[in-house]
Amino acid sequence: MGKLSGKTAIVTGGTEGIGLAIVKRLVEDGAEVLFCGRTAATGEKAMAEIGNPAARFMRADVSDENDVAALIDKAVEMSGKLDILVNNAAKGAVALIPEHSTEDWRKSCAINLDSVFFTSRAAMPHLKKCGGTIINIASISGLYGDGAYPSYCAQKGAVISLTKAMAVYHAREGVRINALCPGFVETPATSAFKAVPGLLEDWFKGIPAQRPAQPSEMAGIVSFLASDDASYMHGSIIVADGGVTASSGQPTQVPLG
Ligand SMILES: NC(=O)c1ccc[n+]([C@@H]2O[C@H](COP(=O)([O-])OP(=O)(O)OC[C@H]3O[C@@H](n4cnc5c(N)ncnc54)[C@H](O)[C@@H]3O)[C@@H](O)[C@H]2O)c1
Repeated sequence: MGKLSGKTAIVTGGTEGIGLAIVKRLVEDGAEVLFCGRTAATGEKAMAEIGNPAARFMRADVSDENDVAALIDKAVEMSGKLDILVNNAAKGAVALIPEHSTEDWRKSCAINLDSVFFTSRAAMPHLKKCGGTIINIASISGLYGDGAYPSYCAQKGAVISLTKAMAVYHAREGVRINALCPGFVETPATSAFKAVPGLLEDWFKGIPAQRPAQPSEMAGIVSFLASDDASYMHGSIIVADGGVTASSGQPTQVPLG
């Protein structure tokens, strides 16, 4: 018996990266998981990699409220209930405000923020019935400013505020809502940075842990937050960033003596 046995979960954007690692970990821990992505092809590839019938894929674009409603319905159809919602799907984009088109701004808000509203609204009646939980994958970019991607920072900051506001209200209904803020995690999304010579070497030197995280290191935290071990956690914003945001930014290699 795993710690999530008998639980039904939804993971958005579960076809690769952190989302895929979360799906794998939740099924390993005993949950039945419905995960989504935008294309059937990526879903089939992920299903083959997971290799566990407790994980099922459904094509759904999280920025489309009708797709989201169908996703929640499907999970409830599978087992008659929904215990865990993991809002993972998102897309980062490097774009300075003076060059940001209105269309791209709205599109990124739809994927990174509207999606969390759509899933949370549709899932809440079901979560209330079984004392369920929502885990929002935010980012340390939502806590601090990263100059190269202001729209992503704004949207992740809003996800953190939404997490706290919803947690405060829905705690009385037995629903726990928390957020995870990863630092740099090696995924298909961050592999694009490899194209810039020296960028990642410098980046990782600035992380106190001196390395990026692996997706499985985020998945373990999500599984804990989804479990009864986190039963008194409401509105917690968990940072897992190798120590980046613990630092004042001042040099650590100060000569002693
Ligand atoms: N990788 C990092 O360093 C990092 C750091 C902080 C936070 N995060 C957050 O972690 C989460 C996962 O990031 P990742 O690096 O694994 O990203 P990724 O791009 O590797 O994977 C994102 C997943 O979301 C899916 N997706 C994207 N848009 C979608 C849509 N409209 N509808 C449905 N699915 C969609 C993709 O198909 C994919 O499965 C995101 O919320 C991201 O903001 C990542």
